[in-house]
Amino acid sequence: ESGRELIDRLEQTRGLTREEWITLISGRTPETAEYLFERAREVRIRHYGHDVYIRGLIEFTNYCKNDCYYCGIRKSNANASRYRLTEEDILSCCELGYGLGFRTFVLQGGEDGWFTDDRMAHIVSSIKEKWPDCAVTLSIGERPRASYQRFYDAGADRYLLRHETFDHSHYRMLHPESLSAEYRQKCLWNLKEIGYQVGTGFMVGSPYQTPENLADDMLFLKKLNPQMVGIGPFVPHHDTPFAGQPGGTVELTIFMLGLIRLLLPKVLLPSTTALGTIAPDGREKGILAGANVVMPNLSPAQVREKYLLYDNKLCTGDEAAESLRSLDERMKAIGYHITVSRGDSLNM
Ligand code: 5AD
Repeated sequence: ESGRELIDRLEQTRGLTREEWITLISGRTPETAEYLFERAREVRIRHYGHDVYIRGLIEFTNYCKNDCYYCGIRKSNANASRYRLTEEDILSCCELGYGLGFRTFVLQGGEDGWFTDDRMAHIVSSIKEKWPDCAVTLSIGERPRASYQRFYDAGADRYLLRHETFDHSHYRMLHPESLSAEYRQKCLWNLKEIGYQVGTGFMVGSPYQTPENLADDMLFLKKLNPQMVGIGPFVPHHDTPFAGQPGGTVELTIFMLGLIRLLLPKVLLPSTTALGTIAPDGREKGILAGANVVMPNLSPAQVREKYLLYDNKLCTGDEAAESLRSLDERMKAIGYHITVSRGDSLNM
């Protein structure tokens, strides 16, 4: 069966079998990719027009108790210069962001014990009290269900937790034994049950990843049916065990973006920082493959360069929230435009 036929079937039935995913992903050609992007753009435009949603990303701590082999802020990286923002700092970021037009704030951090449930709940409720028209998204990793419930009760709307890879043995190749695919996925189901708008996702081209792994990731996405999916290329970081591993490609990343748009037509799909990092026009390519969200950095300038998940991570230029206008120019150059709104998912 040809790539085109599989893409047509994916669009019509919003799913494929594991074998079909493997065939489509491993047999992809520049021609099937171009066809996929056409279909993905049409579906995206049907649901979201040419709007690009923005989220203000506040990277509020780079302390982390975990030791993921790919990540630059892993606990064992003694060269990472660690920082934590105060609640006051975080609120100032939101203030600045609100003025720029952001109506969603994403609080992202390592798994940092200093930010207890009490502290997190307090931060969330302070933001929601001051800016009730804004959505608060948390991205702070694995916590017990009761903690997620507390944050939700404090007003958190959304939660991002990439599943990283569905396959349990691949998961073990990327993480130390203290972490498991099983608990990761359990957290996602907990978040969903509580009522969060949930985002998950994975790295493309992570070490040892196979087309079979990606097929399983697609089947998992279908099952979880999240409101958001964040994917980006794996980019090696020089102070990690994966320093010498090859990075993921733009080509495969945007192919996966197109597939996800057809699999979950109404999903919120960011064109990620990692994609913008490995190619100067990566962000645009992501949008043209079906993505509809960008997440500029709202963290204070002094700490931006410290939240280094991977080498050369963008944090200036159009990555900076202040450059929203030039980001909008770039989107307009490809026929899209930035929208000021909460940008809730239509996939409810
Ligand atoms: N390359 C690309 N993405 C990375 N992440 C962590 N380290 C890297 C890396 N080296 C991603 C993970 C995590 C998200 C916050 O950043 O998927 O979930």
